Amino acid sequence: MTIRPRRSVLYMPGANARALEKAKTLDADALILDLEDSVAPDAKSVARSRVAEAVKQGGYGRRELVIRINGLDTPWGVDDLRMAAEADADAVLVPKVARPGDIVNVSRIHMALGGAERTRMWAMMETPMAIFNVREIASVHQVARLSCLVLGTNDLLKESRALATGGRFAILPWLSMTLLAARTYGLDVIDGVYNDFRDEAGFRAECEQGRTLGMDGKTLIHPGQIAVCNELFSPAPEEIAWSRRIIEAFLLPENASKGVITIDGKMVERLHLAMAERVAAIAEATGQ
Ligand code: COA
Ligand code: MG
Repeated sequence: MTIRPRRSVLYMPGANARALEKAKTLDADALILDLEDSVAPDAKSVARSRVAEAVKQGGYGRRELVIRINGLDTPWGVDDLRMAAEADADAVLVPKVARPGDIVNVSRIHMALGGAERTRMWAMMETPMAIFNVREIASVHQVARLSCLVLGTNDLLKESRALATGGRFAILPWLSMTLLAARTYGLDVIDGVYNDFRDEAGFRAECEQGRTLGMDGKTLIHPGQIAVCNELFSPAPEEIAWSRRIIEAFLLPENASKGVITIDGKMVERLHLAMAERVAAIAEATGQ
């Protein structure tokens, strides 16, 4: 089983040359080089050139490089997409996806502009309409080369007028709907950002909550958030050890044809073997 870990996904403004350079040394699994909301209108073209240069030059090692374009209904979207196609980014993050056609459209135009087949589409889930349509959006994953849904919680709060207080209870149903839709079609889901980047206790609690909901990782806004995020979205050492024991137990000849076995007095079924294999694959991919 090969798995691409997406525990820590760090945004950075595309216009910020210092951040683009610094990211080469940071322990994030993926980087989102942003051309959209963190870039002011009069800096859009500078940001596009900087991101193009950075991606072409490389030096980002194993980190997945994702370019967040502006929407195709803005004056910058098509130029952003052309740049992402030419620079050969690993993925294009499409903002404010509302319907399945939006992501299919970006995927097709990306190919028409010479983009590589291997490039994946990631979709921002950040509007009320996106939440209503999340299952249909996830269902077009093959034709749209979609691999990841990213929660845009700041926009969801803005659009809905809900508050993030009280452990985000107001938006939890939308996070969970997105998660179920993603799992139905084999996609990854990345949780939204935590704005108060100096508040480590609050950040830690939100990472734990996201992990409990089943998220694969969290989007980040500051390098100071990476270590905690990697820790909390990695399987715990006990979980890894237990998973390896399950795998070994099912490999024993006497268990070859068994559906259910006992380890340390606990019932273990083949569905647990599948879960254990996933944990072991993540542990291996993250060097644990
Ligand atoms: N990616 C890479 N490097 C970053 C970074 C990021 N997102 N945010 C900060 N850094 C770097 C700074 O360049 C600085 O590097 P240096 O000290 O080696 O020069 C270091 O980390 C410390 O930064 P700090 O001074 O604590 O933060 P700041 O005041 O410069 O910036 C923000 C704070 C919030 C403006 C900045 O973190 C940021 O732009 N975050 C991303 C915002 C974004 O992309 N939003 C869109 C999606 S929500
Ligand atoms: Mg947004």
